[in-house]
Amino acid sequence: MAEVNLLKRYPRSKRNVEKRNVAQSEENIRLSREYGREYFDGSRDTGYGGYRYDGRWIPIAEDIVAHFDLKPGDRVLDVGCAKGFLVKDLLKVCPGLEVFGLDISEYALLHCEPEVVGRLHLGNCLRMPFPDSSFKTVLAINTVHNLERAECIEAVREIERLAPGRGYIQVDSYRSPEEEEIFLSWVLTAKTHYDPAGWRQLFDEAGYTGDYYWTIIE
Ligand SMILES: C[S@@+](CC[C@H](N)C(=O)[O-])C[C@H]1O[C@@H](n2cnc3c(N)ncnc32)[C@H](O)[C@@H]1O
Repeated sequence: MAEVNLLKRYPRSKRNVEKRNVAQSEENIRLSREYGREYFDGSRDTGYGGYRYDGRWIPIAEDIVAHFDLKPGDRVLDVGCAKGFLVKDLLKVCPGLEVFGLDISEYALLHCEPEVVGRLHLGNCLRMPFPDSSFKTVLAINTVHNLERAECIEAVREIERLAPGRGYIQVDSYRSPEEEEIFLSWVLTAKTHYDPAGWRQLFDEAGYTGDYYWTIIE
């Protein structure tokens, strides 16, 4: 199990903490957790404020292919794939790779990129309908923290089951009280969040042996 930042080439976002504090109402949290239009393509107060393909995942896809030494014919699963941007870019940077996605959002799958039609499964990462060890690599970027702790552990176990020792999980985290305060002023969907030590404990509990990294608002 290794701490490795596979999103180091992801563009840094500029967030306005003051503004989010006002918009972080119970109603906005409820709407965002439906993972429907409001979350992806509604206002910034309930999610992304427009989740559109712009190629930003291409360098990350390159780093994932290099890190896991992926080759044409290998099967990869992106858990919480949303509209399939990373699935599309993995196919682009490594033609012949067998890339699939899974997401709980019917809205996201109905609005997926044309290149990934038929590759995305509607489902819950708590229980994924694939045999043991059926993927060379399973990715879960900013997905499992959306579950309560016990379910989050189940989801991490599922990732380990599908690709033992070859997972990559990225989750919301903070390294100081200041970072935690900023995180709490922004969070809409995450139900489980810890500092890195807390996450490592959860990964141990789940028997996870893959790689991982943190999404931290700085
Ligand atoms: C923060 S978004 C991340 C999307 C994408 N991985 C990315 O980094 O841009 C979280 C995604 O997880 C999905 N999701 C939330 N809970 C889920 C669950 N229990 N099972 C599968 N997908 C889930 C949401 O629909 C959403 O697409």
